[in-house]
Amino acid sequence: MAFPPAFLDELTARNPIEDVVGQYVNLKRSGSNLFGLCPFHGEKTPSFSVAPDKGIYYCFGCHKGGNVINFEMEIEGLSYPDAVRALAKRAGMEVPEDEQYQSRYHQQERLWALHKEAARFYHSQLYAPVGANALQYAAGRGMPKSILTKFGIGYAPDSWTALVDWLRTKGYTDQELRDSGLVTVSRKNGNLFDRFRDRLMFPIIDVRGNVIGFGGRIMNNQDKSAAKYLNSPETLIFNKRKNLFALNLAKKSKLGYMILVEGYMDAIALHQFGFDCAVASLGTALTEDGANLLARYTEQVVLIYDGDEAGQNATKRAIPILEKAGLQVKVLQMRDAKDPDEYLKKFGADRFKLLLEESSNRVEYQLNAILKKYDLRDDDQKVKYLQESAELISTLVSSVQREVYGNRVAEKAGIAEDAMKQEISRAYRRRTYQEKKKQEKIDLSPVRNLQPIDKKLRYDNMKSARAEEMVLSQILKEPALFEEIPELKPEMFSSEFMGRAFSQLLGRYRQGLEVSLSGLTDFTPEEMACLAGITQRLTGPVNHEGLSDCSRTIREEYQKSQTKTLEDIMLYREKMQKSKGTKP
Ligand code: UTP
Ligand code: MN
Repeated sequence: MAFPPAFLDELTARNPIEDVVGQYVNLKRSGSNLFGLCPFHGEKTPSFSVAPDKGIYYCFGCHKGGNVINFEMEIEGLSYPDAVRALAKRAGMEVPEDEQYQSRYHQQERLWALHKEAARFYHSQLYAPVGANALQYAAGRGMPKSILTKFGIGYAPDSWTALVDWLRTKGYTDQELRDSGLVTVSRKNGNLFDRFRDRLMFPIIDVRGNVIGFGGRIMNNQDKSAAKYLNSPETLIFNKRKNLFALNLAKKSKLGYMILVEGYMDAIALHQFGFDCAVASLGTALTEDGANLLARYTEQVVLIYDGDEAGQNATKRAIPILEKAGLQVKVLQMRDAKDPDEYLKKFGADRFKLLLEESSNRVEYQLNAILKKYDLRDDDQKVKYLQESAELISTLVSSVQREVYGNRVAEKAGIAEDAMKQEISRAYRRRTYQEKKKQEKIDLSPVRNLQPIDKKLRYDNMKSARAEEMVLSQILKEPALFEEIPELKPEMFSSEFMGRAFSQLLGRYRQGLEVSLSGLTDFTPEEMACLAGITQRLTGPVNHEGLSDCSRTIREEYQKSQTKTLEDIMLYREKMQKSKGTKP
């Protein structure tokens, strides 16, 4: 889908990158750049840069980068045209619509509207005569009407076509019904049926307030043949890895942290009892996308998974994912109840609050987990306990923390604090030694370091590529430098995407348009990130001599590659002739 260049230029001009990024990242100026904590990977010191004059962002840590459209795509998880549309909306601009694009966006909007309609329908059924049982079930589980309203909870009637019929009267086509995931298609005759039947329905709402899917619970626990919860399938508007249940509400919480639970009912109960910062993952384990989404709204997460073994395993897996997203993790160990929903309804909010206050940080939680594995009355096991604990404690950055936890473990095992201290420093030395070796290995392969992260973009001719990078960075600094290297042609570039960038920038220069990365079109996000990296890394001043040297290098390398292929052809011919000649 191609948007007119003039439109894209205006779009970029009216969406200054520092403003758009500033909506997500706290930026501080440093010279001509702004710096902040990278929203795409977890970090404690800012390596995420924004260059307002170049219209780009680049993270020196994770090497993500690009122009304002790339940023919008990455942070909101949007396709290129949808990111353009979102930015246009932000700046109050009309989007010149291409038919194909319009139809895709239109399709999405129709699906959102369809889901809203379905949610209304299910909700109304809860109060209709057919919903009597469901309403009773909800009441039996301690959900007041206010909560049913707040979460838009509903009932899917025990009928094959109640929703299908309703949506048809509202003008939705069969194709749209199929695309929504809310109906199933009969294999026999292609007829459409309601996917959800006789279930309590939980609408899933994204952060922008669109209903994007549903979870439906059976109300009869005896029926073991049906899944307890049935969820919407993945659709054009529903990606369960990238959304969290109740985040639309929790993001407005004033509590300053978020609670992550396993189930719909747990999240709902927490909101009901005043913990309006609760979210649940959607019928899957927590994903990196889910953690990054959460990290956009908070810095601290309390993880509360079920007390059973599955819950504990899920906790173990979730901790590093959350930490990688830059979140501080606390773990609340469920006890005296299966899950938060059950606990709250048994013991109330005050007692839950106590539990929450004593929820331990990740270290305490993990030390406990190690303790549980070993029987300290056995000497061998005691040694293993001490070693494993020392290993964990040695990863802590703060020496105070290392001492506090070290002493605690020593006390548990009944050994001297000093002995534990030594064990920890031994573990620490071992690890830093290994890490140093690893880093050295990386440092010793300079070529690898200079290569683009993305394998598809790897440079074939390093010498030429370095010169090409330099040319691009210089041109972007001072477009008039194009005049000094008229002999340099895009096809001479050894790197395909850099050649393409050179060509587009030259085209813009000739047309009198702004020469910047924000004006480039049809580059993949990986290519844009690479280009952004080049301009942010090569920040030296304009250097006329250096530029012509680079131009010469590129041309020479190009010549070489050309003659090489010529030589190759000659050699090949010779060989062919010879082999023909020797044949009898
Ligand atoms: P649980 O089985 O722990 O249920 O599943 P729950 O949340 O305690 O629900 P209630 O209290 O019995 O009503 C936790 C989550 O796992 C997903 C759902 O998202 C559920 O909320 N799940 C569970 C499914 O997707 N399908 C299932 O069949 C079961
Ligand atoms: Mn439950």
